[in-house]
Amino acid sequence: IKIYSDGADIKDMRTVAKNEFVSGFTTNPSLMKKAGITDYQSFARKVVAEFPKYSISFEVFSNDEATMLQEAELLHLLGKNVYVKIPIITISGKSTAPLIQKLSNKGISLNITAITTMAQVKEALTAFAPETQNIISIFVGRIADAGNDPTEFVQQSVAAVKQHPEAELLWASTREVANVFQAQKLGVDIITVPPTIIAKLSQIGKSAQQVSMDTVLGFEKDIKASGLS
Ligand code: E4P
Repeated sequence: IKIYSDGADIKDMRTVAKNEFVSGFTTNPSLMKKAGITDYQSFARKVVAEFPKYSISFEVFSNDEATMLQEAELLHLLGKNVYVKIPIITISGKSTAPLIQKLSNKGISLNITAITTMAQVKEALTAFAPETQNIISIFVGRIADAGNDPTEFVQQSVAAVKQHPEAELLWASTREVANVFQAQKLGVDIITVPPTIIAKLSQIGKSAQQVSMDTVLGFEKDIKASGLS
């Protein structure tokens, strides 16, 4: 499985890039807000310049078709390693699928985002032009957040994407380290992981006893630091 880092803080990106297992980045407007980014284009240019060998996904901002098209073309021009994130949804009664098709026919690499249903997976897959490179992002954690078991959806998505050499399946909305192993076991191609969870990945292999001990030591440290008595 390929591991990408999910976030828009350039300092975090530099830190996670020290891990050889990280081969890409995903961002979204909410992550940019969290990182305090106000100038999208200059942020995106800086990231592409620093990480020319990583897969990087940037999302369009608009919900209006004409503006989405313009934004996608601008993002695509930033670099060959850029995937333009675009949702497959119906806005004011109109599906974004024809726009996705149009962009794909121009040879733009796309990352179809915010997917939670098989209908969306299938619709996105039929919109890609042959010989293009694309990502299908399924928001597994958000499905689980809503109280639903995402396993069957992930399995069906894996089977559908396997039929399309022009697409890779990405597990998005990662919530815990265990998700990396679940995604790998289910045959997902890529998982995008927040930097805090990437840091935890380095603790893999700790014995249960050590986890217990570290937990208690953590409590002890916090008791001392807070002056609790
Ligand atoms: C990545 O491409 C997604 O935008 C991200 O994983 C979404 O995460 P969230 O559901 O925690 O916002």
